[in-house]
Amino acid sequence: MDMQKIPVKEGNHNLKDYEKVRETFSWDDMKKHFSWNETGKVNIAYEALDRHAENPEKKDQVALLYSDPDREEKVTFGDLRDESNKFANVLRKYNVKKGDRVFLFMPRSPEFYAAFFGILKVGAIAGPLFEAFMEQAVRDRLQDSEAKVLITTPDLLYRVPQEDLPNLEKIVLVGKHNESADHYIDYQREMKDASNKTEMEWVDLEDGMLLHYTSGSTGKPKGVYHVHNAMIQHYATGEWVLDLREEDVYWCTADPGWVTGTSYGIFAPWLHGVTNVIRGGRFTPDDWYGTLDTYKVSVWYTAPTALRKLVSAGEDVVKKYDLSSLRHIMSVGEPLNPEVVTWGLKAFNLRIHDTWWMTETGAQLIVNIPSMEIRPGSMGKPLPGIEAAIIDNEGNELPPNQMGNLAIKKGWPSMMRAVWKNPSKYDSYFIHGWYVSGDSAYKDEDGYFWFQGRLDDVINTSGERVGPFEVESKLIEHPAVAEAGVIGKPHPERGEIIKAFITLNDGYQNTDELLEDIRLFVKTGLSAHAAPRELEVKDSIPKTRSGKIMRRLLKSWELGLPTGDTSTLEE
Ligand code: WT7
Repeated sequence: MDMQKIPVKEGNHNLKDYEKVRETFSWDDMKKHFSWNETGKVNIAYEALDRHAENPEKKDQVALLYSDPDREEKVTFGDLRDESNKFANVLRKYNVKKGDRVFLFMPRSPEFYAAFFGILKVGAIAGPLFEAFMEQAVRDRLQDSEAKVLITTPDLLYRVPQEDLPNLEKIVLVGKHNESADHYIDYQREMKDASNKTEMEWVDLEDGMLLHYTSGSTGKPKGVYHVHNAMIQHYATGEWVLDLREEDVYWCTADPGWVTGTSYGIFAPWLHGVTNVIRGGRFTPDDWYGTLDTYKVSVWYTAPTALRKLVSAGEDVVKKYDLSSLRHIMSVGEPLNPEVVTWGLKAFNLRIHDTWWMTETGAQLIVNIPSMEIRPGSMGKPLPGIEAAIIDNEGNELPPNQMGNLAIKKGWPSMMRAVWKNPSKYDSYFIHGWYVSGDSAYKDEDGYFWFQGRLDDVINTSGERVGPFEVESKLIEHPAVAEAGVIGKPHPERGEIIKAFITLNDGYQNTDELLEDIRLFVKTGLSAHAAPRELEVKDSIPKTRSGKIMRRLLKSWELGLPTGDTSTLEE
């Protein structure tokens, strides 16, 4: 069968000369879009926010179109600048300085975005945490980063383990509460008294602005450290890939606890000064379509998991809504099924553009640009300024159509600059100047990249990255569990689900109640998305002679595949 190719939609001329631009482009070309190129004064908060607030024609434009089931609010660039100035002053009052880590653990809300920019304005490093995290996940991240201040809501406070955090000086509470201890700061009260003028802390392009914790196949989650320089690529991809235009209403569905929710939920849209729709919570298909319709969204960045839900909801649901304002759709986070792309052509009369990148890469790298032919199932081609290749384990480039490690030539603007307090982990990402992604892929003769899978044991469930080690560690904290091995099991809607194999301690019976109790233990201790959907009790867990759990073998058993090389298996 011929490979399906979806031609360029008429009128999409952005980066029409992709091949030519690739040949001549250098990242320095992008610097002229920034005021610091002339003034020397750098801060991503200035470029994304204050610059628009200082422009009389943009000041009163809605920057943030916020809604959740209980609240709807429109915040202009001017208002968001003022609110974030106030919060910067609050932070200064409590001695927060350049380079300090300030974490946010709360749902999306206008306050979240004001606080986020306030952190950047004092030159501190923001650490957004997903609101579904439970105590252990919060503790790991606050401990490792040695966060000085945490911003949270009274509802979430019970998940903040205060006794184990010697560096945490203050907790800012957003919302009504009865806490009176000295280390609590009341957001509303402080903001009321704070001035809406502040001194922007000018920084270096290489100074830190963001820590995103992410999972690998071993160890605790790692702090991926990003610097202000990333704005160059946020801006470039906002133009080339998001295709943003001044009058757009843009919606990125990701939570800012994940990198998509910062790079593309905050920076790219606001660097381009577009109106940004923010919706809290998890939604039904009617909520998705309803949001697109109500706010007349024109550019939409979402994930395969959401799109697959829309596909299963059927065509009758789409027909209830007016989606005529929608011009451009993108997807990220997991493989985008070709069938979903085909469905999108029918349901929206639009192409869905897959994009590939990672927490570590800080911004998109391999993409489908509107002016490119789409090959459903392919992640697209590297951006101008990006050299991507398939390499073997020694760092040699492989020819087209051969599967290997997807790698990127080191040195793009938004690349992580460190793994927090873990230089050897950082170094382990690189081989001969290539950043090795951990994904396997191949490149076809025409330069399109095709995702094949993860090369390590990292699990991708509904687009959320989960480290098996974290789940295993939590499981064995349960009194009934002796050993645990955790894998990702393919699932039609969620991509993968988490399946745990466990052995029980003496005296425990394998009952449904016990298994449910163990599942809940992970769910309430770590986070809902990390809780195994399937648990299976075994007599033993396969391990290597050095004691490493052989997850690959567990997976082969689960899928009924050949078990491959088991020479390292312990007796
Ligand atoms: C991993 C990174 C920053 C994006 C959100 C996820 C997988 C990402 C795709 C895609 C197939 C994809 C990869 C990657 N992934 N995009 N378009 N097609 N897989 O960021 O949590 O750091 O996860 O997500 O396996 O390595 P993340």
